[in-house]
Amino acid sequence: MPDARRDQADKVPVAVFISGSGTNLAALIYASRLPDCAYRIVLVASNNPAAGGLHLASAEGIATFALPHRGLARAEHDSAMEAAVLASGARFIALAGYMRILGADLVRRWAGRLVNIHPSLLPRYPGLDTHARAIAAGDSHGGCSVHLVTAELDAGPLLGQIAVAITPGDTPATLAARVLFAEHQLYARCLNALVADQ
Ligand code: GAR
Repeated sequence: MPDARRDQADKVPVAVFISGSGTNLAALIYASRLPDCAYRIVLVASNNPAAGGLHLASAEGIATFALPHRGLARAEHDSAMEAAVLASGARFIALAGYMRILGADLVRRWAGRLVNIHPSLLPRYPGLDTHARAIAAGDSHGGCSVHLVTAELDAGPLLGQIAVAITPGDTPATLAARVLFAEHQLYARCLNALVADQ
C-alpha cells in the first residue's frame, strides 16, 4: 500500500468540473487508481452543491469545491472555480458533465489543458439533446467525443471518439444510457494520453 500511495503522488494532478450525477467522474477516479494511469484527481468542483459526484469525491478522499452560479457574472464564477483549481495544484481541468459554458478568458488561460466529454460524434450535434437529434435524423450511430475546449462550443480538436450503434426502438434515454458506457471507456484513456504527453 505505501508503494501504491507513492506512485499516486508522482501522477499529474487534474481537477474535474461536474454539474450532475458524476458517472464520468467515477470512471475517471477509478481509472486513475490503476498503476499505469498518468493522472490523479486532486479536486472535484461544481456549480451545483447538490451534485452527486461531490459525495463520491469526498468519500474517495478528494477535495471538493462547490459554488452555485446563480447571481454571479460568468467571469466571477469562473474566477472562483479557477482559484480552487490553482489552490489544488491541478495542471489540467477535465469537464465531466459540467453544464456551464466557460468564459473565453478561462478557456484561453487553460488552452491545451482543458478537456471536455460530449455525448455525440462531433462535429455532429454540439449543444444539448444530442441523442434525440441523432435518432430524429435517422443516424445509424450515436456516440461520444473527448475534445480540447476552445472558445467555440463543443468545437475544439478531437482527442478520441467511440461510435455507438442506434438500435430499433432506441429512445433518447436508452441511447444515452448505452453511450455512457462508451464515455466511461473513452474519457480516462484520452485524459491519460493527454497528460502523459505533456
Ligand atoms: C454525460 O453524458 C456527458 O457527456 C454530458 O453530460 C453527461 C454527464 O453525465 N455532457 C454534456 O452534455 C456536456 N455538453 P455524468 O454526470 O453521469 O458523467
